Amino acid sequence: MELQRVLGNRRTIRFYLPHRPVERSKVQKMLEAARRASCVGNVNSAKAVVIWKDQSSSELIKAITPPLGYQQMQTAPCFILWYHDKAAYEINKWIGNLLDLVDQRRIGDDPELTKQVIDQNLRAAFSATWEQSAVAPLAFMDLGQAIAQATMMAWDLGLSTCCMSTPRLEQIGKLLNLPDTAVPVCLMSVGYPAESWEAGGQTRKAPFTDLFSEMKCGTPFEEDPQVVEELKRDGLVQEPAPLPWRDDELKYVRHALNLEARVVAPQFQQPAPAGGQEAPAEGS
Ligand SMILES: Cc1cc2nc3c(=O)[nH]c(=O)nc-3n(C[C@H](O)[C@H](O)[C@H](O)COP(=O)(O)O)c2cc1C
Repeated sequence: MELQRVLGNRRTIRFYLPHRPVERSKVQKMLEAARRASCVGNVNSAKAVVIWKDQSSSELIKAITPPLGYQQMQTAPCFILWYHDKAAYEINKWIGNLLDLVDQRRIGDDPELTKQVIDQNLRAAFSATWEQSAVAPLAFMDLGQAIAQATMMAWDLGLSTCCMSTPRLEQIGKLLNLPDTAVPVCLMSVGYPAESWEAGGQTRKAPFTDLFSEMKCGTPFEEDPQVVEELKRDGLVQEPAPLPWRDDELKYVRHALNLEARVVAPQFQQPAPAGGQEAPAEGS
């Protein structure tokens, strides 16, 4: 599929076909796409654990379940726990990665001079700050880029995904054997969609000019309508949600998947529907 159409078709999918397994080869391709993402100094801090639902204990599934995850956790056959590894920023490793970029002729034009600058100037500067750098906003951007690339690969392969909030390290660290240096960031459900590919239309976003400025913040970057038409033609901009038949599709999907009318996973308290009884929390 053309890249612009992949970007346009992507939307968060929360209902999957539970009976249709996700091929291991497709997950490998998603992980490879993540590995190919740009990252600070090529430190490769973006890591993941693939969790196959049919091989998981109920304890693990319960531990990774986020509050807004009922449908995804009930129906997805595969999950990916994405985490940031602070160890990737350890000063000697970080400097080593930069020197390796010189060996690959990816940075600098004079290898000897570039290595000298890295080893002397940068090592001294980074030595004092690498532990802060390992948890700075820029460090987590690497994981975002990796996840975005894995997501696009999933869509290109006919799969769909939902990023979800993640449980804390103390809840899942032991179960998944994560190192102390891991910072879990996002749980992603992966599966074949039980919804139509349109999934009720493209998710509406904040107005373009609210988000993007030109030269200084507050001076909107004005859209050229001609460009918007080109983006529609190429598939990046699509019919906005909700399409007229979306409510019927949601009822159909819920019925077909035998799901309860809930959004929040059973172990979390869900507000009662108007006039109804409060959904009980698990174990209550
Ligand atoms: C980091 C992150 C965390 C998210 N957490 C949840 C979640 O816990 N439950 C959920 O249903 N959706 C979650 N989402 C999905 C967002 O609600 C969704 O991406 C957003 O509404 C935009 O829709 P779109 O992905 O279709 O463009 C999350 C998305 C991201 C990127």
